[in-house]
Amino acid sequence: DWKMDSFVEDSIKAIKEKVGDKKVLCALSGGVDSSVAAVMIAKAIGKQLTCIFVDHGLLRKNEGDEVEAIFSNQFDLNFIRVNVQERFYAKLAGVSDPETKRKIVGEEFIRVFEEEAKKIGVVDYLVQGTIYPDVIESGLGKSAVIKSHHNVGGLPDYVDFKEIIEPLRDLFKDEVRKAGLELGIPENLVFRQPFPGPGLAIRIIGDITPEKVQIIQDADAIYREEIAKAGLDKTIGQYFAALTNMRSVGVMGDERTYDYAVALRAVNTSDFMTAESADLPWEVLGIVTSRIVNEVKGVNRVFYDCTGKPPATIEFE
Ligand code: XMP
Repeated sequence: DWKMDSFVEDSIKAIKEKVGDKKVLCALSGGVDSSVAAVMIAKAIGKQLTCIFVDHGLLRKNEGDEVEAIFSNQFDLNFIRVNVQERFYAKLAGVSDPETKRKIVGEEFIRVFEEEAKKIGVVDYLVQGTIYPDVIESGLGKSAVIKSHHNVGGLPDYVDFKEIIEPLRDLFKDEVRKAGLELGIPENLVFRQPFPGPGLAIRIIGDITPEKVQIIQDADAIYREEIAKAGLDKTIGQYFAALTNMRSVGVMGDERTYDYAVALRAVNTSDFMTAESADLPWEVLGIVTSRIVNEVKGVNRVFYDCTGKPPATIEFE
């Protein structure tokens, strides 16, 4: 794509000129926007960029390692992975109120980022992965409001820096993806689904334990694998497994079980403000179900969520 070609080239040049020999800091989530923004800046200024990736233990299966593999090997930048899984699990232990869970994850995330940023000292610029829809939709919808808090307008006050750089501010999502491919970011990251900041904390109903996290990571990995195998991965808006807090009686061999129920969610949506449940083939649901109950310990039932938004939300908490 020649247009994206020159956009990327021009942006890199502009960043180089603007930043000069100064230091830049980026909070990398592993999501599409922050990743593309980070790599674009890295191409311009290399190791003057430091990316901090907070692994809060609420990511999808193997996601932390995948992000680390990409950013510490494929691109020239300083990559710091902060492993704070235990710290988050401890903070979240016994907490089951959805808003409290969100608040804990958000606040703890900022605290960790702040601690790491302090070690680096004063930086001149902070990278934000703001994209055009964030700019225009700021104030609409939950994710827009949440994003606006961090991305648009108000500058984060938890780290010392002079100015924000937002290299994707003029791009729509599909253009961000094109830029990502142009920059050599692997396809599986570029076409990654939206994943909420609070991560699995809002896909586990009720209180969170490391065991529940593992159950939902394993079930979700099976679900995604089978959706991809069926060739549906690029046709569905968003899909994931969630852990209901419900346990029920089942039977395995001669034994009765009392295990968790997993919910499968798949939605199609144009703007994430409303959504409809995706019409998944029964056969695919059958394969996913039998794999989950056979391979994931602690699960004896699988439900498919047929609810649209509204009245449900896409996430569970
Ligand atoms: P809901 O569950 O509100 O989700 O229907 C709509 C879209 O927003 C994402 N989402 C979030 N993204 N931080 C985020 O970055 C959040 O706290 C958050 N909550 C929901 C969700 O994955 C879906 O794409």
